[in-house]
Amino acid sequence: MEFSTQTSASLHQIKTAALGVGVFAQGILSPAAELIDRASNGAVSAAVKAEFKGKPKTHLVLRNLPGVKAERVILIGLGVQEEYKAATHTDAQACLADYCIQAELPEAVSALASVDCTGTSLRSRAQDAALAVTRALYRYTATFSKPEPAPKLKKFLLWTARTQAGEAKAGLEQGQAVGNGVNLARLLADLPGNVCTPTYLAQTAKQLSKEFKSLKVDVLERKQLEALKMGSFLSVARGSDEPPAFIVLRHTPSSKKVHEDGPIVLVGKGLTFDSGGISIKPAANMDEMKYDMGGAASVLGTMRAVAQLDLDREVIGVVASCENMPSGRANKPGDVVTSMSGQTIEILNTDAEGRLVLCDALTYVERFKPAAVIDIATLTGACVVALGHVNSGLFSTDDELADQLQQAGKQTGDTAWRMPLEDAYQEQLRSNFADIANIGGPPAGSVTAACFLARFTKAYRWAHLDVAGTAWRGGKDKGATGRPVPLLVQYLLNQDR
Ligand code: BES
Ligand code: MN
Ligand code: ZN
Repeated sequence: MEFSTQTSASLHQIKTAALGVGVFAQGILSPAAELIDRASNGAVSAAVKAEFKGKPKTHLVLRNLPGVKAERVILIGLGVQEEYKAATHTDAQACLADYCIQAELPEAVSALASVDCTGTSLRSRAQDAALAVTRALYRYTATFSKPEPAPKLKKFLLWTARTQAGEAKAGLEQGQAVGNGVNLARLLADLPGNVCTPTYLAQTAKQLSKEFKSLKVDVLERKQLEALKMGSFLSVARGSDEPPAFIVLRHTPSSKKVHEDGPIVLVGKGLTFDSGGISIKPAANMDEMKYDMGGAASVLGTMRAVAQLDLDREVIGVVASCENMPSGRANKPGDVVTSMSGQTIEILNTDAEGRLVLCDALTYVERFKPAAVIDIATLTGACVVALGHVNSGLFSTDDELADQLQQAGKQTGDTAWRMPLEDAYQEQLRSNFADIANIGGPPAGSVTAACFLARFTKAYRWAHLDVAGTAWRGGKDKGATGRPVPLLVQYLLNQDR
């Protein structure tokens, strides 16, 4: 897929299969739509008057307009002008991209980024455009006997003033990198548990390190994890015949710049299937627990974007991956295990396995003397109850880090909502038989899960993203979303400035 800019001042002279221009509600034309309207002697305003309300996520195709070289002009609804915002612009770009793909067009020009929009810059709009197109190009084909043919779209041009082409190109490049990361994360989470195993995730990381020079990978196997005394992680892995994998993927910028504060570390929960273990889950929708590696997928997707952009900051992606299965060697309620940190854990529910896996990974990453550690996990159903599918749950003891992550979420529309994380909740994790229990009862389930992790993150600045509600879409359009890759990449880009 090729992204570029189109800087011809005479919009109507551009030869293309499709030209996307914006139209606000109440028949108000964007400047680009205005230009086409003038060149075509009022054909656009006539069509708008007759049959286009300019509502967001709607479009109208106008073919062979007189005086216009584009084969089609696609009017894209931008909604009420006073309410036009970043999210509407993103929807508009997505609407155009979806149309181009469904109409099987080979190339298109979008004039949508040329419309001013509060809270955005040309660069961010270009980034949104490329992300929308890259997202629209995603097809899950891996496990069909006769996969659908690949989309035909090969070239997407953003119409911009010549003086702004540099900014636009930089934005397009970022958007494509984020999009590739998003699509990798989606693919990994969409793949079934019998394909996407811990070993498969490790192979994916190895492939990334072959493709991108900046990435070096290390995969630790069961023996090495035993030597590290990761008793908590291993207790979960032991219930499955599938070998665990602990992946360390490190990006070193080509400048070899070493930041005085240390690297930024991302830690992903990589349960390639979560049956619940002995505390087994109900059968309905259990298939969806193949996406319990959504956090890990977002770490790999983010690392891909970081490498493609050659981010000028050292970033380390860590994935702790295994299956949670019931078996003769599985964890039992009441078992006590010893984590790598030395703290003992009473397992009161084997389905609260994510924290058991993550706590050892969070202890492991102390060795990197990180500037910040962010873990990403489909950790609790309680987070879905609290925040639904709109916001990821954001937990942090560090206000600055929390603000930076929340800001990156707002910038990309991949939003997170800060949740409390106070010591008062720690009481719920008291155990009569170990240093800590792995569940804290029904109240504030996502908070007590975060509190559990907090006990293992005292050595560095830390934040936790619970993406149980945002990494996956249920229902008819069931599938992975690739969130929170946009948030994470934006956060890292912001650190690089
Ligand atoms: N992977 C699940 C959380 C989850 C639930 C993710 C729904 C996505 C959708 C996690 O391992 C889990 O089972 N958590 C339990 C914790 C409980 C036993 C304290 C839960 O949320 O029910
Ligand atoms: Mn579970
Ligand atoms: Zn889980």
